[in-house]
Amino acid sequence: MTTRDIMAAGRLPRNESERLLMKVTGRTRAEVVAGVPIDDELAVAYSTLCRRRLAGEPLQYIEGSIPFALCEIAVDRRVLIPRPETEYLWELACTLPDEAPSLIVDLCTGSGALAIGLAAIYPDADVVATDVSEDAVNLAADNAEANGQSIRVFVGDLFEALPDELAGRIDLLVANPPYVSTLEMEELPDEVADWEPHLALAAGSDGLSVLRGLIAGLPGWLRPGGWFFIEVGSGHATAALDLLPDTVSCQIRRDLTGRDRYLVGQRL
Ligand SMILES: C[S@@+](CC[C@H](N)C(=O)[O-])C[C@H]1O[C@@H](n2cnc3c(N)ncnc32)[C@H](O)[C@@H]1O
Repeated sequence: MTTRDIMAAGRLPRNESERLLMKVTGRTRAEVVAGVPIDDELAVAYSTLCRRRLAGEPLQYIEGSIPFALCEIAVDRRVLIPRPETEYLWELACTLPDEAPSLIVDLCTGSGALAIGLAAIYPDADVVATDVSEDAVNLAADNAEANGQSIRVFVGDLFEALPDELAGRIDLLVANPPYVSTLEMEELPDEVADWEPHLALAAGSDGLSVLRGLIAGLPGWLRPGGWFFIEVGSGHATAALDLLPDTVSCQIRRDLTGRDRYLVGQRL
């Protein structure tokens, strides 16, 4: 039996079968597609992964990691699976017009993807990542180590997690806070609602409850001229602009599908 035979007989979409066979065999996609021999042990391992997928578990949790921003980020049920929109936020934050930032903060870090991706781009920066979930912070620390990056992690609610001496000194702040409204939470696909942490998603009746606290802290924590790059929910950008104090400037930026998804600005 070969990987080709298995894919022809399977119940999963072809690209998912390919990815699970890559995980089980350790082979490249090209090798799996061309067909490599599968012994009984590998066939059993593959059908175990298939069963998990058919039960609705996200493919990325089964694979155990995702490529993100030059890094390989481990993901499991402790954290949200980083999305392509967030990788684009990282790209935006990599193009600062000023000199390289010395102090970078990623609030709501989850798996640590943004913080670790930025540490890779700005190797001399002090990179600090926080999350209200201790589980997430532990995984972020492990991910940093596995990717050879140095970050400092803290547990706590938004800016409260940060050491006091960082106040007014942040050169670059990134955040992808939870932004799903109570109504939207009820309409999430099962694959998200049943598997990803609700703490990473739910943000009150209007989806802005965490963002409010985040925006309120910007003037006190950024240095004058310090930058922020924040992901917001689709349809939230205009409401978010209304929350901003007049001590910061801000533009709305679009994601790759043309939706207003990011607040990019500076403390004045
Ligand atoms: C949308 S996820 C983003 C995770 C990661 N930054 C990413 O983009 O993949 C939001 C994260 O915020 C964390 N979180 C929720 N409320 C928070 C709060 N009040 N303070 C700090 N972190 C919070 C959650 O635990 C979750 O890890």
